[in-house]
Amino acid sequence: MKTIAWAPSNIAFIKYWGKYNEKLRLPANSSISMNLSEAYTITSVEFNERFEKDVFLLNGKQIEDGEALRVFEHLKMIKELSKMKNHARIESKNNFPKASGIASSASGFAALTLAASKASGLELSEKELSILSRLGSGSACRSIPEGFVEWKKGKTNTDSYAFSLFPPDYWELYDLIAVVGEGNKKISSTEGHAKAESSPFYKTRIKGMERKVSEIKKALSKKDFTHLGEIVEEEAVNMHSVMMTSVPPLFYWLPGTLSVMTQVLDLRKNGTECYFTIDAGPNVHVICQKSDFQLIKKKLSGVGEVKRILVNKVGKGAHLVE
Ligand code: DP6
Repeated sequence: MKTIAWAPSNIAFIKYWGKYNEKLRLPANSSISMNLSEAYTITSVEFNERFEKDVFLLNGKQIEDGEALRVFEHLKMIKELSKMKNHARIESKNNFPKASGIASSASGFAALTLAASKASGLELSEKELSILSRLGSGSACRSIPEGFVEWKKGKTNTDSYAFSLFPPDYWELYDLIAVVGEGNKKISSTEGHAKAESSPFYKTRIKGMERKVSEIKKALSKKDFTHLGEIVEEEAVNMHSVMMTSVPPLFYWLPGTLSVMTQVLDLRKNGTECYFTIDAGPNVHVICQKSDFQLIKKKLSGVGEVKRILVNKVGKGAHLVE
């Protein structure tokens, strides 16, 4: 009974920052994202009556505290749902190094949810998998469906889930991740979410979200890259303004973050269209079209603080692998 699942990381175009229910991870607003084709987690789960306790290996190393506690808590919930009595061995591997600063909670909890639910005998729909993943990490619910995804805020546990707006081949967009900072962030996103409301700008941000979500969906349906990019960039700066004005303030940027942002603005000024977005970390995601990605990659490599560039296309959703 060993089940293996693959799940992508995702980058939010419209961000999830702030929850109205922390325990259930119900977000203050709906969000929109794109799955990443080259940043993913593969997780295997095996239940066996001979196992004496639950075991979690991350990238080949057994861990028992920190992240493992969150994993065990999620496993416990799945075991309760499926009435599984046996202990599990969970092996999880990210194809991106932990130190690359790419968040692994989205891909990690999506892969774990799919593998553990299947291995315990549950037959869940995409919607149910998305809901269950959300309880592990909010952004993980967007890593279940394929391509371009919307996470509908919802009002209760059962109506806050993500679904696909368009498949991966709908639009050949690229996300070039300019890595400027490696290593763990000091304040996790879970802690950050809890501080969002202390920013004087938070309420104003939330008021504008419904309109922003519908605008970006329009841009996606028309494949209007300029409109999409303008919203994506404004949204990232907006979220980081809330982070920086929280009490105490949260600064996720490094000097290299600003250098890359400036490079993106310069590229645009010189006629190459690309837009930046940034999650709860220092690395910059540069969104561009296929025709420009080689040139943009070259320009970003020339920025002194950039340690490496990870090239992603639009990715598939979570699925089982043989
Ligand atoms: C800035 O999903 O990591 O990346 O639900 O507490 O696990 P938890 O938070 P998480 O938050 C992601 C925040 C973000 C924006 C986004 O991905 O929408």
